[in-house]
Amino acid sequence: MTLKLRLAKKSDISSIINVMNKVGYIKFRFKNMSLNKVQATIQSEFPSRSFLICTEKKKVIGYAIFGSAEAFLMCPFEVEKKGFAYHLGIGVDPDYQGKGVGLLLTEFMLKVIRAEGFKGIYSDVGSNNVASLKLQKKMGFVEIKRYRDSKRTKETYNVLFKKEF
Ligand SMILES: CC(C)(COP(=O)(O)OP(=O)(O)OC[C@H]1O[C@@H](n2cnc3c(N)ncnc32)[C@H](O)[C@@H]1OP(=O)(O)O)[C@@H](O)C(=O)NCCC(=O)NCCS
Repeated sequence: MTLKLRLAKKSDISSIINVMNKVGYIKFRFKNMSLNKVQATIQSEFPSRSFLICTEKKKVIGYAIFGSAEAFLMCPFEVEKKGFAYHLGIGVDPDYQGKGVGLLLTEFMLKVIRAEGFKGIYSDVGSNNVASLKLQKKMGFVEIKRYRDSKRTKETYNVLFKKEF
């Protein structure tokens, strides 16, 4: 594979949505919203978040998104948000999963976040998401708390991770 990592442009949005759809993120976050409305929502969110992508022969096969923890991290207890980023999601096209793309994207995201002067990053993952839990731990994220969250199903906890540089 010839993989390339870069910041996404607005013209990449529909390809990113295609991957989001394949990994089930659109259904999870936007429930019954039409794809046109999803597209408009992501377009409106684009300026306030950083979208990173991985391409293989110019095809978008994965994305990772982050923003500032102060703007986006909501949790029912106090954490130090100032100067930290917040991981807003990652997805790899199922045809390319298990080949290290998730690790590469996370590594790239950490590099960008560090270059932007953040002290570290928070992320949260569903307690049943084996691949994502493994990925976070492998990249040096440390679990700081498990708690119930309305965005998860009743059987699942939200697991908050932190990585400090
Ligand atoms: C989580 C996700 C991004 C991982 O991407 P990926 O490219 O498949 O991950 P990698 O190939 O880089 O693997 C990273 C680690 O996770 C492990 N892993 C990947 N898929 C796995 C699976 N289905 N079950 C168990 N472990 C898995 C890998 O073995 C690897 O660890 P290792 O090097 O010790 O073997 C991908 O599975 C995905 O898009 N999932 C759906 C969306 C999602 O859940 N996103 C996270 C919530 S926002």
